[in-house]
Amino acid sequence: MSRPPRIIEPFRIKVVEPIRMTTPAERRERLVEAGYNMFELRAEDVLIDLLTDSGTGAMSAEQWAAVMRGDESYAGSRSWYRFERAVREIFGFLHVIPTHQGRAAERILFSTICRPGHVVPNNTHFDTTRANVEAAGAEARDLPAPEGLVPSEPHRFKGNMDVDALEALIDEVGADRIPVCMLTVTNNTGGGQPVSMANIRAVAATCSRHGIRFYFDACRFAENAYLIKKREDGFADRSVRDIAKEMFSYADGCTMSAKKDGLANIGGFLATNDGDLAVQEENLLILTEGFPTYGGLAGRDLEAIAVGLEEVLHEDYLAYRIEVARYLGTRLSDGGVPIVEPPGGHAVYIDAAAFLPHVPSLELPGQSLVAELYLAGGIRAVEIGTVMFGRTDPVTGEEHPSAMELVRLALPRRVYTKSQIDYVIDVTLEVWQRRERIGGFRFLEQAPVLRHFTARFEPLYALGAP
Ligand code: F0G
Repeated sequence: MSRPPRIIEPFRIKVVEPIRMTTPAERRERLVEAGYNMFELRAEDVLIDLLTDSGTGAMSAEQWAAVMRGDESYAGSRSWYRFERAVREIFGFLHVIPTHQGRAAERILFSTICRPGHVVPNNTHFDTTRANVEAAGAEARDLPAPEGLVPSEPHRFKGNMDVDALEALIDEVGADRIPVCMLTVTNNTGGGQPVSMANIRAVAATCSRHGIRFYFDACRFAENAYLIKKREDGFADRSVRDIAKEMFSYADGCTMSAKKDGLANIGGFLATNDGDLAVQEENLLILTEGFPTYGGLAGRDLEAIAVGLEEVLHEDYLAYRIEVARYLGTRLSDGGVPIVEPPGGHAVYIDAAAFLPHVPSLELPGQSLVAELYLAGGIRAVEIGTVMFGRTDPVTGEEHPSAMELVRLALPRRVYTKSQIDYVIDVTLEVWQRRERIGGFRFLEQAPVLRHFTARFEPLYALGAP
């Protein structure tokens, strides 16, 4: 029997950027200065940066060539028309509104359509999405399918929305109080897990029956489409581009951060089929982002995104991309590390609650794990648990934990080699070996919204104990 060919990086390296090893003593000092907050570290003090896959990818030779073709005209630049054509061709929406990144698209969308008393359902809101819904006075309601909430349970489409819960919500609040229903593909907060085409169709049908707008948060659409191809019956022989087109054919619009599956370092857009809504959104765009043919981006950024949206659909790229997450996830779980099974598209998520079962949620087990990974090997990961999604009751001061305590090892696109991934595996397994001597953390300072970016912490144990 012949083995399937090994999946390798489908590119060679043309430009290199040095990274610097630090000593454990240096890293301990940097952690104290940063208040143990990974967002407060300087990138140059990080060896392998898995904080995010957003805007951290390597651009291709074709993208850099496109950058040189950027037309920087204020209005109607060539680059804008190239960008608009690329977006329309893949996403199919009539109106495309460029923004400097995903959250700007979110702010414009939600401040246009949401009012106090409104409820926005989503399989799981990303943090900026939730914050922008709430900033518009509406309620953000997560409706993940139940299997999505059990990290150890392998399931092909753990990013799905619970369609019964959506129906129940519509009954509860009434369709007129739901200005939009969103599906985040892949479901980042829920573990980078894909949403199946069957679920997309079911959510779209429910929305259409009740006259509710249906949007995608499309950041990682290509990874989601590839996982549909690989995991859902009946899609194996279809191209990823075709699957993506079908996904978007069911929707009324989308928000997009081109910093993910746009393979660009900055950029995003908002798209819709509704001409009246597009006019209102463009008026807001002009107020804060820029004229509708650049929306806060340079012509060269629009060019890089137009090329990136094409390249991200190359199936050899996607095969390699998904293989990196599978390899990292499988090696960690073979070593005993509890992860969200199966690994999804852009990241491996460690279940910090299962990694450190002796650390209660309110002692922030994910925060302990990210601090230990940095101290042990200069690896920067991000906590997606009570620090990011827990709540302090403004009246009683009582802390409410998040549903899951995850630590995300996000994989920048086309950036790290397999031996660097092996290093991440070694360091994580070393921390795993001494997990019983790892304790918890507490907050010293926190902001009222999006507290994870600026909070300061203090360990409740001796960090890095052998
Ligand atoms: N929606 C999802 C699902 C995201 O993952 C992000 C960003 C956004 C919206 C906002 O896009 O950053 O361009 O404004 N996620 C990054 C992350 C920051 O690390 O997962 P943005």
